[in-house]
Order: sequence, then structure tokens, then C-alpha cells
Amino acid sequence: MSILDKHAIFEKNASLLLVGSLLVVSIGGLVEIAPLFYLENTIEKVEGMRPYSPLELAGRDIYVREGCYVCHSQMIRPFRDEVERYGHYSLAAESMYDHPFQWGSKRTGPDLARVGDRYSNEWHVQHLTEPRDVVPESIMPSYSYLKKTPLKVANITAHLQANHAVGVPYTDEMIENAVSDLRAQADPEADTEALLARYPKARVGDFDGNPAELTEMDALIAYLQMLGTLVDFTTYDDATGYR
Ligand code: HEC
Repeated sequence: MSILDKHAIFEKNASLLLVGSLLVVSIGGLVEIAPLFYLENTIEKVEGMRPYSPLELAGRDIYVREGCYVCHSQMIRPFRDEVERYGHYSLAAESMYDHPFQWGSKRTGPDLARVGDRYSNEWHVQHLTEPRDVVPESIMPSYSYLKKTPLKVANITAHLQANHAVGVPYTDEMIENAVSDLRAQADPEADTEALLARYPKARVGDFDGNPAELTEMDALIAYLQMLGTLVDFTTYDDATGYR
């Protein structure tokens, strides 16, 4: 009996064919899925990534609340045009502490994954206050009220705890110092040594141009200025060689 004749047994018997197909498909599925159960993490660890500082986290909340993600993505795809415009394509690790992630699905405005350090704080204040003052053809709405809205500080500790509960590695020390760290980051007079030890590379100082008051504008700009700045791509070993 040739192999084709043997196969004919399956072809002529629908139930046997069904059982045979299920068997083959489940082997294929198991081979793909089973290893994932034994891996602790499928995201490659990348040097430099750290949880958001309390002020950045508060700014991120404002970003989500205001729906910035409706017009802005935060994911640079590995295509030449995107890499040339925005910088190194986004790594999975760069959004590993995002709950929820801000990849976005629409770009009415540019991608913001690496907007940090691209403009001065003053530029951001002016742009968020009245986008058309700096980009005449802009259709971005004005967010001038953020400058006048005091930042709510009281719930930041609970916010760090909530992130901790879903896997962000905030330490007890970080949670205990959340309120003082938040204030220190936006206060040009503050001692920021402990803050910077906990959150390396955090941008410190006054962000909104008004050092006397801690506003939502301070938090949002602190967040924007750190986007994409944590991983040092001059030393990052890029396995694909594509940048
Ligand atoms: C209705 C769509 C829309 C919304 C909502 C929106 N933006 Fe924009 N944004 C744009 C457009 C269009 C541009 C490009 C023109 C410009 O620079 O103003 C832009 C540009 C920017 C830039 C400059 C990016 C660069 O690389 O030059 C930043 C930063 C920015 N937006 C932040 C924000 C933040 C923060 C929010 C939420 C508070 C927000 N945007 C909400 C449409 C939007």
C-alpha cells in the first residue's frame, strides 16, 4: 500500500479526517503556546527603563484624561520613514510600565514616543497654551487651562500602589515618598538627590514657567519631556541592525 493509498483512508472517512486534523492542529498549537507558560516575561529587558516618577505618572494621567492619544500615537514602527522622522523604533520594554499603553491607532498629530528633550519647556507651555502661536497651521486644541489648574497631589500614593498591584516594580520606599518626590521634581529649590536616585534621568525644575504653583501643566510637561529618553540608544545593542 503506497502512502497515497494510506492517505485515502482519511480522505474517505470524514470523522477520521476530523480527528486527524484536530490532532495535528493541537500539536502545532502546543508547540507554540506551551513554552510561554514557562517564561516569566516575554519582554526583553532593556537597560535604562524605570517606572514613571510620581510627577510623570500624574502627567500621564492628564495625557489620558485629555485624550491626547486620540490624535497622537506613541509607537514608532520599524519602517525607514518613521525611524528617520522620529528616531529608533519603539521597543516593547519602553511601554512595559504603561497601564494602559498609549500606542494609539491614529496620528492626526505626530508620534510622541520620543518627543522628550526635543523642545524646551517654554516651547511646550506656549504650544499647549495656544498651538497656533508656534505652529500656525496646527489644528491641535488649546489646553491653556492646565496652567491654571492646581495639580491634585493627594491621590498619588494610591496611584503608585495601584500600579504596583499590576506589576510595576515600585518599592515601598518609592510609595512612601511619592508625595515628596512629586513636589521635589517640580520645585527648582528642592533637594532632588533622593528623587534622582530613585528615578534616574528625571527632569527636574519648574516646567510651566510659574515656580510658585504646582499645576497640571507642570506634570504634563514633565511627562512629555521624559518620553523616549530612558533608553540610551548609543549603547543599545540592536540585534536587527536596523536603525
Ligand atoms: C485634534 C487632535 C489633537 C489632539 C487632541 C492633541 N493634539 Fe497634539 N498635535 C496635533 C497636531 C495636528 C500636531 C502638529 C501641529 C502642531 O505641532 O501643533 C500636534 C503636535 C503636538 C506636539 C508636537 C510634536 C512634535 O514632534 O512636533 C506635542 C508635544 C503635542 N501635540 C502634545 C499633545 C498633548 C500633550 C495633547 C493632549 C493634552 C495633544 N497634543 C492633543 C493634534 C492634536
